Amino acid sequence: MAGDTLAVIPRPAQVERLDGRFVLTPDTTIVADERNRRNAAYLRDLLAPPTGFPLPIRTERPVQSPAIMLVTGTEGGPEGYSLTVSPQQATISAAQAAGVFYGIQTVRQLLPVEIERRDPVHGVEWSMPCVAVRDAPRFRWRGYMLDEGRHFHGAETVRRALDLMALQKLNVFHWHLTEDQGWRIEIKRYPRLTEVGSVRRGTARSLFGGCDDTPHSGFYTQAEIRSVVAYAAERHITVVPEIEMPGHSLAALASYPELSCTGGPFEVACRFGIMRDVYCAGKEATFEFLQNVLDEVMDMFPAPYIHIGGDEVPKGRWKKCPACRLRIKQEGLANASQLQGYFTNRISAYLARHGRRAVGWNQILGEGLDERAVVQYWIGGRKRLIAALRRGREAIISPYLETYLDHSYALTSLGKAYRFEPLFSELDASAARNVIGLEAPLWSEFVPDRARLDYQTYPRLSAYAETGWSRREDKDVADFYRRLGHFVRRLDELGVQYAPLSEADPPRFRQMFGIFTLFTRSYA
Ligand code: ACM
Ligand code: ZN
Repeated sequence: MAGDTLAVIPRPAQVERLDGRFVLTPDTTIVADERNRRNAAYLRDLLAPPTGFPLPIRTERPVQSPAIMLVTGTEGGPEGYSLTVSPQQATISAAQAAGVFYGIQTVRQLLPVEIERRDPVHGVEWSMPCVAVRDAPRFRWRGYMLDEGRHFHGAETVRRALDLMALQKLNVFHWHLTEDQGWRIEIKRYPRLTEVGSVRRGTARSLFGGCDDTPHSGFYTQAEIRSVVAYAAERHITVVPEIEMPGHSLAALASYPELSCTGGPFEVACRFGIMRDVYCAGKEATFEFLQNVLDEVMDMFPAPYIHIGGDEVPKGRWKKCPACRLRIKQEGLANASQLQGYFTNRISAYLARHGRRAVGWNQILGEGLDERAVVQYWIGGRKRLIAALRRGREAIISPYLETYLDHSYALTSLGKAYRFEPLFSELDASAARNVIGLEAPLWSEFVPDRARLDYQTYPRLSAYAETGWSRREDKDVADFYRRLGHFVRRLDELGVQYAPLSEADPPRFRQMFGIFTLFTRSYA
């Protein structure tokens, strides 16, 4: 019954309301088993600033003390949990620590929104309704992507993005770290990638406009990357780095022009679009370089997946390059398109030898693609995707017209975002089985700062989070808007500058012309 749902996003699978309320007091104890030590510390640190209660963490429940119990080892899937709240006790139990963490997020959303403040709050009763919840996600990949190539946002913004992901039970942060317009990750063996590749002389003001004269730069040291990865891990978020190849690589080629077909010279791009210069697929030096880069990347990121891009690769340079032509001939390839397949498979095999799987945008999906590679679907070729899924290919679903957060609300309204269904109707059961989840990417050509990032991301990301987590049959647009009305008050407390709901669903006539906003975007 819609009116009876809890104000929780994403909507939990099963909720039963019980009588009474649980009230948090200075006498409440957090009781946690060994596997929940990090969860317990996270919960304590979440509750302490606004309540002023430094809740103790114990392994046994003290007699008669109200308690929040964190228990693992019960039945259920890897991310599911159950939550039972009575006036004396709130118990979160799960098979694994990730499930308990999601139970904590549900508790968080059952408490007053002031729980989000980071300084003392007076005059609020820290209570939640008594309930019995059983909950588990629909998909195992519930992703958010941030492009830091086009604009560098910095570790503080990334930590905040991770905090907000955790609140909504999202579990994959896809970190797009290299682009034509900037290389953002320190690679010790190749210092020029950041000395040269992380700086550009200006930024285009629109898709077709010229560049301004304001230099833009920034990159993460390896220590900063490790710290972000650890922060994410505490929130049960896997960080999947993206190192783009063979295209979208002009910042790397500006740093090491010998890795191109022509030898350069190049400048880090200040305009946007598709660049004709890409890594040379004929030279062994290219593979040696990329494998060395990936060695350092794998050392920083423990994720089972490494994203290698693969989208938007013009073949003009390869067609003319003697080294690329020789490679095509020697490998018995039909053309330059197949050369990209060769390139992808070599890198995919390298990652596989190190126990990792390559993820690539769906332009990598050609004949003979390494079966271990995962495809991130964003454009075109649905038939090809479906055929591949039926043969066992795993995929993440991010259609650009439905999930790209950089698009205007006229093009992708909040309502449209909520209606997005990753298992589109042509997918039969044998294909659907291999869809591992969905992702909402935020490309940042026209996202220079946090205010813009917030506006583009929220509240749409909350809609995608619900689609990733909640069962399809439990989705209900009216109920979502009702819960969202409450949720945005929480975002207010967190200082998130989301699009006001009046702007997130523009009038119909503006949505009819929304497609034109793809070509008129400009730098704020
Ligand atoms: C993409 O939007 N070029 C993956
Ligand atoms: Zn070449």
